[in-house]
Amino acid sequence: MKPNVRPRRPQFSSGPCAKRPGWSPAALADACVGRSHRSDAGRAKLTEVIALSKSILGIPADYRLGIVPGSDTGAVEMALWSLLGARGVDVLAWEAFGKTWVGDVVQQLRLKDVRVFEADYGKLPDLRQADPARDIVFTWNGTTSGVRVPNGDWIAADRQGLTICDATSAVFAMDLPWPKLDVVTWSWQKVLGGEAGHGMLALSPRAVERLTSYTPPWPLPKLFQMSKGGKLIDGIFKGDTINTPSLLATEDALDGLRWAQSVGGLQALIRRSESNLAAIAGWVARAGWPVFLAEDPATRSCTSVCLKMADAAQGAAAARIADLLDSEGVAYDIGAYRDAPPGLRIWAGATVETADLEALFPWLDWAWTEVRK
Ligand SMILES: Cc1ncc(COP(=O)(O)O)c(C=O)c1O
Repeated sequence: MKPNVRPRRPQFSSGPCAKRPGWSPAALADACVGRSHRSDAGRAKLTEVIALSKSILGIPADYRLGIVPGSDTGAVEMALWSLLGARGVDVLAWEAFGKTWVGDVVQQLRLKDVRVFEADYGKLPDLRQADPARDIVFTWNGTTSGVRVPNGDWIAADRQGLTICDATSAVFAMDLPWPKLDVVTWSWQKVLGGEAGHGMLALSPRAVERLTSYTPPWPLPKLFQMSKGGKLIDGIFKGDTINTPSLLATEDALDGLRWAQSVGGLQALIRRSESNLAAIAGWVARAGWPVFLAEDPATRSCTSVCLKMADAAQGAAAARIADLLDSEGVAYDIGAYRDAPPGLRIWAGATVETADLEALFPWLDWAWTEVRK
């Protein structure tokens, strides 16, 4: 029987992700539109995004945080292009985005001293292979396989290299060991459901030291430049963005951050996301037909939850389930990422209500029956 209760919000996309509960365009009423981002009013909005992000995430006081162009990709690539080449690099990758950073380091930057540690969808490479004497590039949460690193225990506290961490689908939903991370990047449209386009880049004092003491041998476009004449361009980390940001998106980012504070801050966001994962895990166990793509439960993402068919021969059913539930207006964008094995990917980050997931589960079971008729 077709279920009769629908999720109140069918937005389960892994990016852009669901807006915070209760969001409407009215949240943007105070946006500083039609003004210069370099005006006092515009800059105040940008600095507030930086200050609120730092305080909610508990970023160490001596780290810099800037708003940068090009979303998360922009933030990662400006770090790779600005920092790498000073020492050997270890790149760890286990899904599409990590593999993109491998491509950047190996094919685009063409660094000579590179070791790549890759694993298939569902698995992690052996993290202990990463050498603390070298720079380490990795993704905290692999959004397209739903596999995350379980913790930062494998990163040496006294490392000599820098750790560059793409954490876009992890921040605001997972605990990050900041002192173990020298560069951390994310975008606005993930866990807090902001509007897209802008990236966030956090730098440790050691990353700043690299930026000011090392000049890469390749040309850097203006969009990637963070230092000049051996000095950090400090303004980037005080709201003086490199180029023009959207002040409408900025207002939306502020709305998401204020909501995060209102529900209890980082620990509450993590609890919301972990509860969503637990609800999905309960349903997966009851349903029997899907299984987690992440093989080790300790590596299961609490944001981008990726499932495959228990019976591999039924892989094609997943896309039909995603299409059917989309046409029913019950769940949007839950098909697996285009390069990932066939399956479903359900966003479970902090803006998603557990009740909406609970309402979705009977529909998933119904669709599973329907697509095999
Ligand atoms: C882990 C990861 N890295 C990078 C990206 C690319 O992000 P953006 O589109 O913000 O550049 C995504 C997008 O989903 C992602 O999940």
